Amino acid sequence: MARWIAIGMQKGGVGKTTLATNLAAALAGGLGLRVLVLDFDGQRNATVGLLGIAPEQGPTIESVLREAVPLSDAMIHTGFAPRAELYVVPGTRGLTSWEPEIRDWNSAALRFREVLRSGLRWDDGANEHAFDVVLIDTPPAGGLWLQTALTIADGYIVVAQCERYSAEGVQMIQETARRTREDARLNPDLVLDGFVVNAMKARRANPHAFLEAYRAAFPDAFLEPPIPDFSGISDAATNGVPVEFAARWSKEARIFRQLADALNDRLALGGVNTTDHVPAAVPGGKL
Ligand SMILES: Nc1ncnc2c1ncn2[C@@H]1O[C@H](COP(=O)(O)OP(=O)(O)OP(=O)(O)O)[C@@H](O)[C@H]1O
Ligand SMILES: [Mg+2]
Repeated sequence: MARWIAIGMQKGGVGKTTLATNLAAALAGGLGLRVLVLDFDGQRNATVGLLGIAPEQGPTIESVLREAVPLSDAMIHTGFAPRAELYVVPGTRGLTSWEPEIRDWNSAALRFREVLRSGLRWDDGANEHAFDVVLIDTPPAGGLWLQTALTIADGYIVVAQCERYSAEGVQMIQETARRTREDARLNPDLVLDGFVVNAMKARRANPHAFLEAYRAAFPDAFLEPPIPDFSGISDAATNGVPVEFAARWSKEARIFRQLADALNDRLALGGVNTTDHVPAAVPGGKL
């Protein structure tokens, strides 16, 4: 059975999409897991990050939720590595304009859970398709789509940077998760699957004080290592290719495989741990 994991943080620009796309690629390309990414953000960054473009035609997450298109019809294979089982269901700009039309987010989230979680069980006649992990990328700001992601997920991953506004954002996402858990209708079983620190900058004042505070606050869920601020990571986003597929032996790709290993170990996802067996760097491994 797939583990459904929401990646959430109300604060914008902390690296939710960077983590969603690169972790998904590491789980699929590195650890051999079957991974599906759902793009719940009207910015469609995860879609572009995994497909290179946002498709203007064809089924999307919105058609699944609005028009009852089967989830299996909306999955697109990312195609970077034919053997890597990495699929994405594209987001749409319409997700953003739809949100203010919906008054009762909790009821909508419950309805969407029904559609999505039952939609993953299907059989094409030859094979029963199954995923090991479903990662959900969410938009900044708490809203319908973050609420839906937390309602349908088994667990969630928080992404934060080592600075004050991120630290306050951590309190907000924890509060939203607590409310979701405390409402028996919504998701009483929701757990924190991981805490990831992104974009460590040596030149920033006191990054290590924040880092240690996060490690102390989330001793079990903290996933090592913190992700450095590497230009290769933003370059890969610009090119629309996750670092795993852009340069498998780069230091950037290795970081995300280590995180994938940490998550795999923590949740027993069944992937083959890879980072122990690959060299730290090989010639030509630069992004
Ligand atoms: N570790 C990193 N090193 C270098 N650049 C990074 C890193 N992490 C993220 N970035 C860049 O920072 C920007 C913001 O990252 P990203 O889009 O992943 O954040 P986000 O939390 O998804 O934003 P939003 O809240 O808008 O959805 C992007 O341009 C991304 O390429
Ligand atoms: Mg994003």
